[in-house]
Amino acid sequence: MSLSIVVLAAGKGSRMKSALPKIMHTLAEKTLLEHVIDTAQGLSPQNMAVVCGNGVDRVLPFLNEKNITSVIQHEQLGTGHAVMQAEAEFAGTDQVLVLYADVPLTQQSTLNALLNCGDVQSLRILTTQLADPTGYGRIVRNDAGQVTCITEQKDADAATLAIQEVNSGIMVLPCDWLQAALPKLSNQNAQGEYYLTDLVALAVVDGITISTVCCEDNAQVAGVNNRQQLAYLEREYQLRQAQDLMAQGVTLMDPARFDLRGEVEVGEDITIDVNVILAGKVVLGNNVKIGANCVITNAVIGAGTEILPNCVLEECTIGENTNIGPFARIRPGSVLADEAKIGNFVETKNAHIGLGSKVNHLSYIGDTDMGAGVNIGAGTITCNYDGANKHRTTIGDNAFIGSDSQLVAPVTVGEGATVAAGTTLRKDAAANALTLTKSDQRSLSGWKRPIKKDQK
Ligand code: UD1
Ligand code: CA
Repeated sequence: MSLSIVVLAAGKGSRMKSALPKIMHTLAEKTLLEHVIDTAQGLSPQNMAVVCGNGVDRVLPFLNEKNITSVIQHEQLGTGHAVMQAEAEFAGTDQVLVLYADVPLTQQSTLNALLNCGDVQSLRILTTQLADPTGYGRIVRNDAGQVTCITEQKDADAATLAIQEVNSGIMVLPCDWLQAALPKLSNQNAQGEYYLTDLVALAVVDGITISTVCCEDNAQVAGVNNRQQLAYLEREYQLRQAQDLMAQGVTLMDPARFDLRGEVEVGEDITIDVNVILAGKVVLGNNVKIGANCVITNAVIGAGTEILPNCVLEECTIGENTNIGPFARIRPGSVLADEAKIGNFVETKNAHIGLGSKVNHLSYIGDTDMGAGVNIGAGTITCNYDGANKHRTTIGDNAFIGSDSQLVAPVTVGEGATVAAGTTLRKDAAANALTLTKSDQRSLSGWKRPIKKDQK
């Protein structure tokens, strides 16, 4: 049984009040369009085409990059008109599934249920029951309970408006019949559009069987037309992901205050406190603990590591049993070996922090290769940028850097070296020796404080 999928994505989405086309708005940092495309691709259709129009300059590069067929609907004359534009793409297959790019959360299993609910010559509609059906097309049935038509909100009388069973927009149609019926659509309605939904009444006339699958889960069939609906679906989506993680054995202190904007792979007995955001691809090892208000993007966190509140980690690899924060910023290219410790108000970038090494307070460590067992005193800065180029700092095993030191790169601190507090290191520091750059402490007797000129 061959299947074509047509994704409607040409509308402007004026209710979003945005310069960005609606379907390029994001839910969990992924565009609405991409949510729908990913689900569609999961069904392995023979053909798939996306109908675009508004904002093609933004939509087309994305589709081309993913090698997805696009069809341009130059004027947005309605959902039926949009499907007409894709005819050349679906002609010759057995059935056509129409998806709306502004209905992002439909599950593949729901679509499979719809595809399998009637024979291939029937018209199948995914519906749902809504307490507040405002804005949706209503499923109109006769006394025998058979669907007779779909009536749009703007064309409905009071009795029809009271119907709570609504059209999700998602439909499966027999291909040959669809091709024959599309030219019969008219735009004689409240919006002057060619409605795809009018095909239902045409199917009744042609004696085509109409089946419906009612999806109990409203969020799966909810459309995004305004920012309120987008926010509602974002929360629904996040709550589902949170439930799924808890089912995998993760403790979430509050599932309503957790956001996953990408994918996470989890070990055992992980605890995540409130207001944590995970983005991109994140891997969390066994027993990882993440404190409140952390944002972690594209990171691998080793087992037993504890991240204290208010840390930001990005593009980094963190070893096992490390300790980070509170208030630490781990920037791209940071690699922490096992048992390393990064304390408060420390920023690392493109830096390797060796086994058990400690950077506990108020430091910037950038473009650095640090060995094991190093202790970096408070306020130490690697001066990695000379105004034009970046340079690296190398710090040997067991070195001790005194507080408030500046290591002017390129520079090397030897193994076991001690750098005195307040040192500005412009040349390499010898291994196993004390390096000082400021003069020795002296007391000058008879020295007088300067006084202001007009004070006598
Ligand atoms: C549509 C349905 C309605 C259903 C609702 C579910 C019709 C006539 N109405 O209404 O029955 O309850 O979806 O969410 O189909 N689009 C195009 N080209 C166009 C017009 C729209 O590609 O010319 C695309 C839009 O980008 C969007 C989708 O089709 O992805 C739906 O369009 P929209 O205007 O949002 O339809 P609704 O009024 O929500
Ligand atoms: Ca819509």
